[in-house]
Amino acid sequence: MNLDRFPRYPLTFGPSPIQPLKRLSAHLGGKVELYAKREDCNSGLAFGGNKTRKLEYLIPQALEQGCDTLVSIGGIQSNQTRQVAAVAAHLGLKCVLVQENWVNYHDAVYDRVGNIEMSRILGADVRLVPDGFDIGIRPSWEDALESVRRAGGKPFPIPAGCSEHPLGGLGFVRFAEEVREQEAQMGMRFDYIVVCSVTGSTQAGMVVGFAKDGRADRVIGIDASAKPAQTRDQIARIARHTAEIVELGKPVRDHDIVLDTRYGGPEYGLPNDGTLEAIRLCARLEGMLTDPVYEGKSMQGMIDKVRLGEFPEGSKVLYAHLGGVPALNAYSFLFRDG
Ligand SMILES: Cc1ncc(COP(=O)(O)O)c(C=O)c1O
Repeated sequence: MNLDRFPRYPLTFGPSPIQPLKRLSAHLGGKVELYAKREDCNSGLAFGGNKTRKLEYLIPQALEQGCDTLVSIGGIQSNQTRQVAAVAAHLGLKCVLVQENWVNYHDAVYDRVGNIEMSRILGADVRLVPDGFDIGIRPSWEDALESVRRAGGKPFPIPAGCSEHPLGGLGFVRFAEEVREQEAQMGMRFDYIVVCSVTGSTQAGMVVGFAKDGRADRVIGIDASAKPAQTRDQIARIARHTAEIVELGKPVRDHDIVLDTRYGGPEYGLPNDGTLEAIRLCARLEGMLTDPVYEGKSMQGMIDKVRLGEFPEGSKVLYAHLGGVPALNAYSFLFRDG
């Protein structure tokens, strides 16, 4: 595998910390050891998150091409667009963000607080568009690119979740390399890695990175798109492309893509009762916050799998905490009583 031939622009603090979740593990019976790798605080750029790690491999291309405006897209409470806005500010670039109406949720200040508030403060040109949820390429996004060109600028397109970008999987190939180094320091090895999936390049990168030591199918994706067929196809496609460009040297097999579809409902961006229970449980036992769109769903998945005995006794499970907490502000009604 050859990751070093791709230039990387550092945007994170360095390796994100791994911490044991001792009280949560004990609460769930103590037969499985749970840990979290904290991508949610991996950077000083507006809290960071999984996109910040992915952007480390996209930004060199933007700089090399002489682009002056980062253009990206997401839902109103997109974490990606907030991270792109922060990276643009950090690099002295302009930023245009298309924020679509991906979520059927109408907290009074949904389009004012959390991620979108931060993107505005970071100086991004935030454009609200009424289109619904879709992780593919959108006309509103093409329009935004064209508007930058018309104004004489040079846009650098960053698709939803960085996932359609040809280098979008690299950041999480590197995540696996980082975990291996941390495992060596800790003198242990994780049996499973739990990760939330929507646009797919986070899991795809991990599948490739952990394929190197035979753990591709130990990456347990928890779907939060509630459109799992589309997410699964996307993970497989990005994993295969990423495997090719990093010269993995072995095929990504269908059964290497593990996507648990039980926790994504009722729909993208809306939590179910189990999501909320998991958010509260993890917060109250560990002081670790998760959000109702993404990480609360993967947290619910991990907790439920422990309860159902789906991880063999003695397993060490690494929960990849990918960020997303700023969106909690937009869901204040759900937590009005705690
Ligand atoms: C906090 C958080 N978790 C998980 C994901 C899912 O990652 P991916 O889109 O790479 O599947 C995202 C972004 O979509 C996110 O912002």
